Amino acid sequence: MREARANGTILRYHQSGSGPVALFLHGFPLDHSMWQFQWEDLSEVRTCVAPDLRGFGASATPGPELLTMDQHALDMMDLLDHLGADRADIVGLSMGGYVALALWALHPERFRSLALIDTRANADDQAARANRDAVAERLVEEGREEWTRSMIPPLIGPDATLFVRARLRAMIESTRYETILAALEGMKNRPDRVGDLPGVDTPTVVICGEHDALTPLDLSRGLAEAIPGARLEVIPGAGHMSPLERPDAVNAALRAFWGDD
Ligand code: MLT
Repeated sequence: MREARANGTILRYHQSGSGPVALFLHGFPLDHSMWQFQWEDLSEVRTCVAPDLRGFGASATPGPELLTMDQHALDMMDLLDHLGADRADIVGLSMGGYVALALWALHPERFRSLALIDTRANADDQAARANRDAVAERLVEEGREEWTRSMIPPLIGPDATLFVRARLRAMIESTRYETILAALEGMKNRPDRVGDLPGVDTPTVVICGEHDALTPLDLSRGLAEAIPGARLEVIPGAGHMSPLERPDAVNAALRAFWGDD
């Protein structure tokens, strides 16, 4: 893992390949390694950079109480500066998509393209906000192992392999309790970005697992319709974790979108 200083913290990141930078932003409560099957393939056509966002994975530090999407976006600006990348292909899954949209709102000129994977632009409604509090309470009450057991089924489609489930368990169980609470709070209070979508004028692809239960296909259809010229790619058989569940299909969609197929 390499490291970069960003807004007073140290971020650790994977880098491999050559060519234009593609920045891969992980979901919650995961880490950079969810993109392994992307960088193993796409390093042929891109410099693949997959950071652990502030508080996660090897970028963990004790105790932030709030991890906002804007904070992560500012960190990604510093990372792009550190990499010497004026522009990048930005790829975000779920929470990573929230960060990508926050980055777009701050610095659209840094995007060569945008890939929104299994994500949404709308803010949490009342029910989702209440659910974040319940999820946080359960984590601390039950402990991570029990909590993780209940977190995994909604993340995956019916065909997810034992390996995919194992990978998810490993990532979730190694995320700090404090980070999970801080990220839940940050996502709960994230602004609605739906109004930004008609102004997104960078090439965009929206990718969604056919069986995504957390950000269902209808939401992705809405995203693709709201962003001028965006294309929608549906990943057959996959759930919310499409890059991990069906890496070949997701990688083919990204290559085709980037024009490197
Ligand atoms: C994710 O996969 O990052 C989460 O489902 C995002 C969320 O909880 O809103």
